[in-house]
Order: sequence, then C-alpha cells, then structure tokens
Amino acid sequence: MKIAIIGTGYVGLVSGACFAEFGHEVTCIDKDAEKIARLQRGEIPIYEPGLDQLVHKNISAGRLIFTTEFNPGIPEAQVIFIAVGTPASRRGDGYADLTYVHDAARQLASHLQGYTVIVNKSTVPVGTARQVARIVSEVNPGADFDVASNPEFLREGAAIRDFMHPDRVVIGVDSERAQEVLKAIYRPLYLIETPFVITGIETSELIKYAANAFLATKISFINELANICEEIGADVQDVARGIGLDGRIGKKFLHAGPGYGGSCFPKDTHALLRIAQENGVACRIVESVVEVNSAQKARMARKIRKAVGGNEGGKTIAVLGLAFKPETDDLRDAPALTIISTLLEHGAIIRAHDPQAMKEAARVLDGVTFCSNPYEACEGADAVVLMTEWNEYRALDLKRIKEVMKRPVFVDLRNVYMPRMMAENGFDYYSVGRAA
Ligand code: UGA
Repeated sequence: MKIAIIGTGYVGLVSGACFAEFGHEVTCIDKDAEKIARLQRGEIPIYEPGLDQLVHKNISAGRLIFTTEFNPGIPEAQVIFIAVGTPASRRGDGYADLTYVHDAARQLASHLQGYTVIVNKSTVPVGTARQVARIVSEVNPGADFDVASNPEFLREGAAIRDFMHPDRVVIGVDSERAQEVLKAIYRPLYLIETPFVITGIETSELIKYAANAFLATKISFINELANICEEIGADVQDVARGIGLDGRIGKKFLHAGPGYGGSCFPKDTHALLRIAQENGVACRIVESVVEVNSAQKARMARKIRKAVGGNEGGKTIAVLGLAFKPETDDLRDAPALTIISTLLEHGAIIRAHDPQAMKEAARVLDGVTFCSNPYEACEGADAVVLMTEWNEYRALDLKRIKEVMKRPVFVDLRNVYMPRMMAENGFDYYSVGRAA
C-alpha cells in the first residue's frame, strides 16, 4: 500500500521506517528542508537504537522516500498519517498546541485524490480528528475521505521493538471502509496475533491519555511509597516486587526514582486534566500524580543537599546522566534539568556526563561543566549523583571513582547499586526508598 506521513519527528520517522519495513511504499513529508536533506542522505536526526539501519535499508529498497513536497506522495497515498508535533501550548495552560495538526490538514486537503484515510497519530486532545475532518471538507468540499485515530504507544529507546511487537494496536474509526484499510496496513501484526482494539474516534483519542496517565500514576504511587519506606526503614524495591507479582498490579513501571520526565507523561497528564476540566469532570487522581511528581524532584534536590552536609553552596557535584531516561538524547522535562537548576541556584558547582544528551544539555543548561566520561565528572567532587540509569553507569569502577572524588558520597537516584556493596566500597551511599 502507499502511505504518506506528515512530520518526521520521533513518531513519524519511526512509523515511516517500520511501515516501509512491512513492505509498504512510504513517503515521509516534512517542511524542514534541512532535516529532509539530512534524512535523504541517511542521517538520522535523533538517537534511537536500530533506527538508522532500518532507514538505510528501506531507502535502498526504494520503499522509503523523504521530501518537503506534498506531490505526488499525498495524492497517491491510500493512508495519510499526521504525525506532527503537538507541544504544550506556550500559554502554559495545559492545552496542546494544535497549530501543526491544523496546518497539515489544511495543506493535505487540496492534494487528495481518490478515497483516502487520514489518520491522527500525534497525541491529540479528544475531538481533534473531527476538527481535521472539518478542515479537510472546508478546503476541499469534494474530497472522498475518512478520518481515524491511531495513537502510538512507542517508548523512546525501544521504539522499533514497540512498533514491531506492540501489546495492542488501537484504531478509532467510524467507517467500515476506513477500518478495513487500516487493518490492511497493520496486517503483519495480525499475523503475530497482536490484539486490535477497534473503537470510536473519541474513545481511541482518550485511550492514549488514559494509558500515559495510568503509567504516570504507577510511578508517582511508588515514589510516594519510597518516601514512606525511607522514614520507616523499609525497602521500596521489595515493596514493588511484593505488589507487582500480583498480576492485577503488574511489575512494570514501579521503579522509584527522581520522578518521570520526557515529552509524553508531563504533557499528557496536563492535557488530560485540561480535558476533564473543560468537560466539568474532576480528575483528582491525575492532579495528585502531577503534584507528587514535582514534589519528588524537589525532594531529590534536598536529598543531595543532605548528602553533602546540608548546604550545597560551593560544593562540587558530579551528575551522571542528563537524559530523562537511558537510550535517548532527549532532555525534555528531564528531572535532571530541574534538580541541577535547584543545585546551581544554591551555589553548587556541577560537573556532568551523559552518553548521548550532552550536546542538547549544553544548549539548555548554563553554568555546567560537561565531561567526556563519568570519571572525569567525578574529579574533585563532594558527591556523585546517578541521575539516569544508562548501562555504562551500572558497572562503574567504584575504586577509581572513589580515588578521584574529594569525598566518597554516592547519591543513587535510580537504585542501580546495592547499599551493602556501596558501604563495603567505602561510600556514604544514598538511594531512593531504601535504608541508606
Ligand atoms: C511513554 C510511554 O511509556 C509510551 O508507551 C508512550 O508511547 C510514550 O510515552 C508517548 O506517549 O509517546 P517514554 O516517554 O518514551 O514513553 O518513556 P518511558 O519509558 O515511559 O519513561 C517515562 C519516564 O518515566 C522516564 O522519565 C522514566 O525514567 C520514568 N519511569 C518509568 C520511572 O521513573 N519509573 C518507572 O518504573 C518507569
């Protein structure tokens, strides 16, 4: 089948490469000419394991094209995915900014030829698919099309695996014809018995927010439990295991840490609150989830302060990991940004390392010394903070770290190391939700 994808951001690019891998002919369109030129040369603008090989392979096979032009990709497409960004509105009011979605709808409308299914893949507020339909009909009253919602559940760092082996595919449609077309493009997933959840359009749009808000809830829940554990001398890892083995609760997303970040959970929890508010419905649980998450980041800064003796002014703190999670260079809403800013405000000297995110960090963080490896970051430090659980921080040479540090203070915000082992190695060790 012929597919067009508008927007070569994270979701658009991964989906484009994966649909091409399924054997479809995919045209990826973006108005950013420089980005398209780089993609045409096979240069991938984001760090995502396995993506470059997949893009190269499918460009060579002639199934994946990058262009700034709507013609001929849009008129030829049977399915058009809108995968443009939906950033939080600049008004800071929790709304998603739909300008790019509306622009894409307006631009594609005049190029439509023959029956086309227009699919929202961007995370959008309930009602957006209908807005897209209205815009397309206004611009091109004769167009033969249906709109659909097909939210994406990819995790950064595991996006290709998630696309190829999803837990489910959610499709929101109100026409049999569109449903058949969408099932056809996902046929390879049918063959591996992936469950398909076919719903109305509004339901599908809400499922995306519900999924992310629920996962964020699990994280805030375990983070609060971690705080209780610290006070009563319990171990949050054991609590998580003890409850997670109950199949009704599930083991995943119960890792206590510095709070969730990224481009999805913070934005989507706020957007869900906005949807509830606009419809006059309370959403108190998600409200608390958001509050708990910002309190957790503040608590982590206090934990570091305590670890360096109650005042970080003039102290050198090494930070290992800046990205909001491993295997990505994404710094959006990363807990590291908030925590480092608080430490800097209180006069700390920050030396940081991250395997992928330092270029972006240098753009957004002032007054931080970036180091080429974790050991260099630890030189002369009064404490080291493990912020992101990159694999390369899981087996640090502790002896070497201790030798280069001014004081052997280790604050492990991801519970990567074992308290006993750290004590044996001579560290003053702090973690999250476990006896120090
Ligand atoms: C999340 C969802 O997991 C995806 O299913 C969804 O498609 C995506 O948002 C999206 O809406 O596009 P992502 O933001 O890439 O994916 O990252 P996650 O792996 O979910 O992690 C989010 C944050 O939660 C990270 O800061 C991570 O460190 C934190 N986290 C996660 C915890 O603190 N504890 C956990 O147990 C799990």
